[in-house]
Amino acid sequence: MVSRVIPVDVFDLVIFGGTGDLARRKILPGLYRRFLAGQMVPESRMIGAARADLTDEAFRQQVREAIAEFVPKARQDDAAIEGFLGRIHYVSIDATGTGGWAALKALMRENVVRAFYFSVAPSLFGDIAQRLSEHQIADAWSRIVVEKPFGRDLASAKALNEVLAKHFNETQIYRIDHYLGKETVQNLMAVRFANILFEPLWKAEYIDHVQITVAETVGVDGRGAYYDKSGAMRDMVQNHLMQLLCLIAMEPPYHFDPDAVRDEKLKVIRALKPVKTEDIVRGQYGAGRGEKSYVVHSENPASKTESYIALKVQISNWRWQGVPFYLRTGKRLRARASEIAITFKQPPHAIFDDASGWHENVLVIRLQPNEGMNLMVMIKEPGPGGMRLMQVPLDMSFADAIDDAEDVPDAYERLIMDVIRGNQTLFMRGDEVEAAWAWTDPIIEGWEARGDRPQTYDPGSSGPEDALMLMHRDGRRWREIRE
Ligand code: NDP
Ligand code: BG6
Repeated sequence: MVSRVIPVDVFDLVIFGGTGDLARRKILPGLYRRFLAGQMVPESRMIGAARADLTDEAFRQQVREAIAEFVPKARQDDAAIEGFLGRIHYVSIDATGTGGWAALKALMRENVVRAFYFSVAPSLFGDIAQRLSEHQIADAWSRIVVEKPFGRDLASAKALNEVLAKHFNETQIYRIDHYLGKETVQNLMAVRFANILFEPLWKAEYIDHVQITVAETVGVDGRGAYYDKSGAMRDMVQNHLMQLLCLIAMEPPYHFDPDAVRDEKLKVIRALKPVKTEDIVRGQYGAGRGEKSYVVHSENPASKTESYIALKVQISNWRWQGVPFYLRTGKRLRARASEIAITFKQPPHAIFDDASGWHENVLVIRLQPNEGMNLMVMIKEPGPGGMRLMQVPLDMSFADAIDDAEDVPDAYERLIMDVIRGNQTLFMRGDEVEAAWAWTDPIIEGWEARGDRPQTYDPGSSGPEDALMLMHRDGRRWREIRE
């Protein structure tokens, strides 16, 4: 089932920041896996670009090591690795300088797809776009892939959109949110729009509330300098959780087409109500379990940055009137577990006694790990003793449902292949990013103006105590965070 691989057109993909962490961990190993799967036509080439003075062979050695470290052993095929490395080149370029651009231009081929992946610090995005255009390396058919973060507020996102728009059309710009490349995230659309079962119930009349949880066990060690200027709101909510919320809340698009899908997501973002102060809980992990605290990891003893956030969000449109969406995400929590839980309302009239043991129906979509779906339904408890009800899961694991889960491309692999195919459905449009910042900015400005400090929480816990209260006071409870 999964092995239906359709090769993409021949391409030249230039990876600016080809020697960096993201390229080493995700982009290059992912490209190797697509090569191994036969999705890449052998004539395609990948060209690393960074300031370091490296030969092709030295860069290939780095790629060889990245594959050895980040591709599962079972997928490390010596002949395929050598074949893949034969497609790799390197050019030394300073994004802010003049050297190297002529060499890059000379390397590019005519009549193949040209893509440029900006896997460098965001401060360099504008410089690279400008030089690609000035040196006529990019043409009207070229694509650029822009990494996150896309701005740190509305003003900077607008400025970045403007800089890129000077040199590229919107149809050439692929803004990455790697959550959109995750198999299960795309499955949200399949579940909603390829089944008649759920959509009739997908509205305020039948849904009590929605919980979106992205819990991580990792801390910010190693990237504290970046994270401390960002925090969970900018790093996770403005992009990844926002995208999940959109896929749950959007109206059915008229077609699975880039602008049709993105138009509907944009409407959701624009319909988000401003969030009240009492509907926001921020946390920061303390020390414990032999691990250092957030302030040590971020090397900022006075840091007020949140490594956890929970929010109650409301959407002002007909479909979602009065249905709260509870969002939470944090680092150093009890388990790595991301899920969306949709809790349905009570049947309109209860025919069973209060003592019968009734519980709500809950549809849980597990994003990672153990991807799958779980629908909690009520049945009669077997045996004599009257009509007692019990809640049981209709459980579906995606790994069981497909032949070889190992072959499912990871988010980056899929997204890069979409770039080559020219399909922008799973990439954020400029207006979408700006709308997300327009909603986010006042929230952050609010706590900055008040000088709020995040509440400390224990590492390995479910987050700060106040986050529990956020739901308790509405008579609801968070689901347990567990793998
Ligand atoms: P790194 O710091 O690890 O790598 C930066 C890369 O850019 C290096 O290859 C570096 O090589 C190159 N570089 C730096 N300055 C220049 C310059 N002036 N001209 C040309 N190349 C330059 O960063 P990451 O790989 O971690 O991040 C890259 C991008 O991906 C960032 O936008 C980041 O926010 C984003 N990202 C990263 C994630 C991750 O897990 N790492 C996750 C999500 C997004 P050299 O010094 O030789 O020039
Ligand atoms: C990144 C964030 O975008 O997503 C990280 O910058 C976070 O802070 C990561 O850890 C989570 O991604 P995933 O795929 O591991 O859920």
